[in-house]
Amino acid sequence: MILNSRLILALDVLSRDRALHLATALKDRVDYVKVGYPLILAAGLDIVGEIARIAPVIADLKIADIPNTNTLICEEVLDSGAAGIIAHAFVGRDSLSACVEAAREAGGLVFAVTEMSHPGAEELMGPAAERLARMAADCGVDGVVAPATRPERISLVRSIVGERAIISPGVGVQGGSPSAALKAGADSLIVGRSITESPNPAASADAILREIR
Ligand code: C5P
Repeated sequence: MILNSRLILALDVLSRDRALHLATALKDRVDYVKVGYPLILAAGLDIVGEIARIAPVIADLKIADIPNTNTLICEEVLDSGAAGIIAHAFVGRDSLSACVEAAREAGGLVFAVTEMSHPGAEELMGPAAERLARMAADCGVDGVVAPATRPERISLVRSIVGERAIISPGVGVQGGSPSAALKAGADSLIVGRSITESPNPAASADAILREIR
């Protein structure tokens, strides 16, 4: 995994042109561009390959299906140029292992969601997060996604996943602090709207980079 700037751009925009413009403007400030359903549904799967020619892409499809379907989804998005995928852990060991195997075949990275960053995640995912992190580590994932909105959860996940990467969304608009998340044990921050909706995205990214350096 690339850990230079420790910033992953969440490119949740709906226009292909805007996505390409932002990826180009920010490529030297971020290690990966995270592309998810909003952009892929709006612009088509080819956008993954187009962005991948600018910066490495993590496809955040939060894959959560039976093993066979997970394999098909992973193969499709990794073939289209993604360097990594994000899958849900809660679906179970067999489903997550299917993603790990597909990622290994393609030479890609796989990250498992143990707990999401929004308030609703505390209802069901929070209480299960430790078990999910343990299972994800057992399955051989490269990393897990843990919430920057709850740094104490990052520390807990770190104690479970050891050297595996922790990537953390929830900084900025969702209220998480970049430095607190890294101090708690995150390896990289996933940041979307505080950069993409800024009047000056590069300056906003630079402000985060200054805070975490
Ligand atoms: O705009 P903002 O910085 O809040 O974007 C956070 C990004 O991280 C979004 O793409 C969201 O889907 C994603 N994400 C999250 N919580 C997770 C996993 C991914 O907020 N557990």
